Amino acid sequence: MLIAPSVLSSDFSQLGNEVKRMDVCGADWIHLDIMDGHFVPNLTFGAPVVKSVRKFTDKPFDVHLMIDEPLRYTPDFLKAGADIISFHLESDSDPRETIAAIKAGGAKPAIAVKPKTPVEKVFPYLDDLYMVLVMTVEPGFGGQSFMADMMDKVRALKAKKPELLVQVDGGINPETAKTAAQAGVDICVAGTSVFKAEDAREAINTLKAADER
Ligand code: DX5
Ligand code: ZN
Repeated sequence: MLIAPSVLSSDFSQLGNEVKRMDVCGADWIHLDIMDGHFVPNLTFGAPVVKSVRKFTDKPFDVHLMIDEPLRYTPDFLKAGADIISFHLESDSDPRETIAAIKAGGAKPAIAVKPKTPVEKVFPYLDDLYMVLVMTVEPGFGGQSFMADMMDKVRALKAKKPELLVQVDGGINPETAKTAAQAGVDICVAGTSVFKAEDAREAINTLKAADER
């Protein structure tokens, strides 16, 4: 199982160094949460910030767009160095157009689904996707509790398309990472449990060890 630390829980005054620290501590991907204050009731940062921290690591940048119009801003995030771009199915952009724009820019497309969205809604797009992001909290904030009932969505996706990567985001700790691994999750996003740990390397290793497959 891969671990993608979410910099939402990092020290934003040291963002570049925090990205580098996660790289050194064994992060597989760096997860960057983009919030516009409309799609979710919180604001973070945009493409210029992503671009400015790009030089601190060679690890893949996993950009999670929690914004109303992902298609409109996709070119900016491609230019900023995104490797994987997740956009929400509940956003205002056309999924097929958005997938095409991400692919045309050389990045890997993923669709994210909020807890209340039935996973079947993503099925028509599976052949064109690199990954599906199953939210295990309501998007917007770090530090919330993991919704274990979302594992049904993970199992349904894996049954439909075994080679598709499935990511979960929200409330991941050593115990919930185990639940995720058992359901077939490939990538866990972790904010609080990695950044607030005394030893981030140990925290990442513990999450990886939760996967006994
Ligand atoms: C929530 C974000 C998450 C968040 C996870 O909307 O998408 O990436 O940082 O934080 P934790 O791991 O603290 O739940
Ligand atoms: Zn996220």
